[in-house]
Amino acid sequence: MILISPDQRLFHLLGKTFSYVLYIDDEGRLLDLYWKDPLGETTDLAYLCSQYTCSSSFDQPATRLPLEAPSVGGGYYGTPLVQAIGPDGTDMTQLTYDSYQVVEGKPALEGLPSLHESDRFGQRFKDDAPLQTLKITLSDKTTGLKALLSYTIVEAGGRDGLAKSMVLTNQGPAPLLLTHMDSACAYIPDAASSGESLEVVHLKGAWARERNIVRTPLGQGTYRIDSKRGASSHEENPFLALCRPSATEVYGSVWSAGLIYSGSFEAACYVPDAVTAQLSIGLNSDTTRWLLEPGQSFTTPEALLVYSGRGFGQMSHTFHDLFRHCLGHSRWQHKERPILINSWEAAYFTINEEKCVQMAKTAASMGIELFVLDDGWFGARNDDTSSLGDWYPNLQKFPHGIKGLAERVNKAGTLFGLWVEPEMISPNSDLCRAHPDWCLHAGDRKRTLGRNQLILDLSRTEVQDYIIGFMTDLLSSASISYIKWDMNRNMTEPFSGTQVPQHQMETQHRYMLGLYRVLDTITSAFPDVLFESCSGGGGRFDAGLLAYMPQAWASDDTDARERLKIQYGTSLVYPCYSMGSHISSVPNHQVNRVTPLKTRAAVAMSGSFGLELNLLTMTEEERKEMAAWIGKAKEYRRLIMEGDFDRLASPFDDKTYTASTNLCAWQFSNDSELLLMAFRPQAEPSNAMPYRVYPRGLEDDAYYSDGTHTYLGRALAGAGLVLTFDPTDTACVIVYLKKINKD
Ligand code: GLA
Repeated sequence: MILISPDQRLFHLLGKTFSYVLYIDDEGRLLDLYWKDPLGETTDLAYLCSQYTCSSSFDQPATRLPLEAPSVGGGYYGTPLVQAIGPDGTDMTQLTYDSYQVVEGKPALEGLPSLHESDRFGQRFKDDAPLQTLKITLSDKTTGLKALLSYTIVEAGGRDGLAKSMVLTNQGPAPLLLTHMDSACAYIPDAASSGESLEVVHLKGAWARERNIVRTPLGQGTYRIDSKRGASSHEENPFLALCRPSATEVYGSVWSAGLIYSGSFEAACYVPDAVTAQLSIGLNSDTTRWLLEPGQSFTTPEALLVYSGRGFGQMSHTFHDLFRHCLGHSRWQHKERPILINSWEAAYFTINEEKCVQMAKTAASMGIELFVLDDGWFGARNDDTSSLGDWYPNLQKFPHGIKGLAERVNKAGTLFGLWVEPEMISPNSDLCRAHPDWCLHAGDRKRTLGRNQLILDLSRTEVQDYIIGFMTDLLSSASISYIKWDMNRNMTEPFSGTQVPQHQMETQHRYMLGLYRVLDTITSAFPDVLFESCSGGGGRFDAGLLAYMPQAWASDDTDARERLKIQYGTSLVYPCYSMGSHISSVPNHQVNRVTPLKTRAAVAMSGSFGLELNLLTMTEEERKEMAAWIGKAKEYRRLIMEGDFDRLASPFDDKTYTASTNLCAWQFSNDSELLLMAFRPQAEPSNAMPYRVYPRGLEDDAYYSDGTHTYLGRALAGAGLVLTFDPTDTACVIVYLKKINKD
């Protein structure tokens, strides 16, 4: 609900779980007065602004004002939302209020993915409020730069967040160089004076160690995370949260921001004086400049602000539901995904048609529904040194082409899926020989290789059209039900061969706009194909790509124990069913660890389930055991796809965040079922104190059965479940409870 008091110059965005209050001060500056628990249907809130007076005799007032659209000058020293260099050579940009407007619905963002009205199986959640968008216009009277700020409360089944974005328009007579154009800035008051300072939480990692949770105290100064890699990256994720030290999974205030974008980004927290903390998120200002000619506009990516008054659990529920129901239009969004077997760890580059068909036959007999041919099927691709760009089948390995192979795989009893890496080009490829300048590069400077490959320049329309063309041909040529869209290196010379010098620093963002155009075109033209994104594992696991491809390969590390941290961390923001997650063979190919099948199955089942091993070298007995787990995965997949996910015990060492370092547990639940999985990474002696976990979301007076025992909801939630692990490393307990009628 948007409540406005023009007299008091106050805007109250009232959601079901939060209020966000904006105010225009006497000098026309837009202030962010409040972002916390809902305040009820009122606009009588002007007193909130009295909290922001500057008592210091040295600082200018702007230093301490909660500026919603901070810019350079006037005594503001934090992270600007907008910074633009004007014709006078200065970067002074003073944005003051012009007007507001409320529009029904939520306009899409030009060229960029964004949230939309909730859509559950094609229907709106019936109690969700219809969307309304508040648009506030600010402008810099000297340069003529106009900033149109958009705010929409987006809701799915009662869980809501605030979507924010901005359009900058040059209404002045001279070009403006945008050097900072964040998507959102928000304030957390009282950074220390209540005796509890703030802590910052984000997802840090590396290849094969993606999205580990970092939680650390926030001191005075600027805490900044970013990616300059032209991808959201393995190293950081476009997400940042602030909380009190006492916040847990179920308790305490959490303020968080995520960005719906897949390229270089920055997120920062600026604490000028331990009184307020400013949270900001948007495009990376180090890697992106944008020259805005008179009359032109620039649209920022969308940020999603989520406040939780009940800890990280509620924050994650909100992100999960908004991403599941308000992002993307894939027909697969609300469909159970086929259980797949991927050829990569089974055969790497030694794959051929006969192996595929044999694997598909065996897979079908075990209940697997989709066979995916990974890398190695095209051009002269026998290792990673060639052929990216030559997207025609290698007829020595696949004599009947992709069409013939797909037919044989279908006949064997499974759907057929294919790996592609469309954004890349190998120097040793026909494509590169034909178009040596189609890659990103900086003039005559060295073109740095990564995994022996270069990146196509997707800022160029003809390159976008080429990808759309070959993908359309490929998908039309055969019965292909699934695409794994990979991207195996980051940008090193993110510049274009066709761009004039003044626009070169736009290339990274223009690339992303090009990529979104390509993805939008292809996924709309082939709505029945399931797309999974990938980037050297989970190097581009972000909401921008999830808008087109409803799942992403979470990591190249398929070891179940390693995956505990990766998937637990990813779940902070992203729905579990969006994580591609496979059972692989033991010893594991990345870390050489041997892990029981039950644990490997439980971890893989906690995402979009699949397998990644050679079925043909398994014994009959092993296949039978595996088939039983495939059956379980089918039994649980709807609950895992639609249910609420809760983290019960953290695998991370951070003592402020977890109860134990040798226990990881989580659960999926809906109104009538609860699936709990607990993992103990290292074996302990039999007389060690047993672990106990406390299931959540049970109905107090309902009864639940695991098939053997019956439990009263309130008793189970209160007393918890004692876990009995097998005496082995990386042991696992799985408990499935169903609500029963006790009479
Ligand atoms: C990347 C992916 C892997 C696999 C290989 C193929 O590393 O993350 O899953 O597809 O590429 O080259």
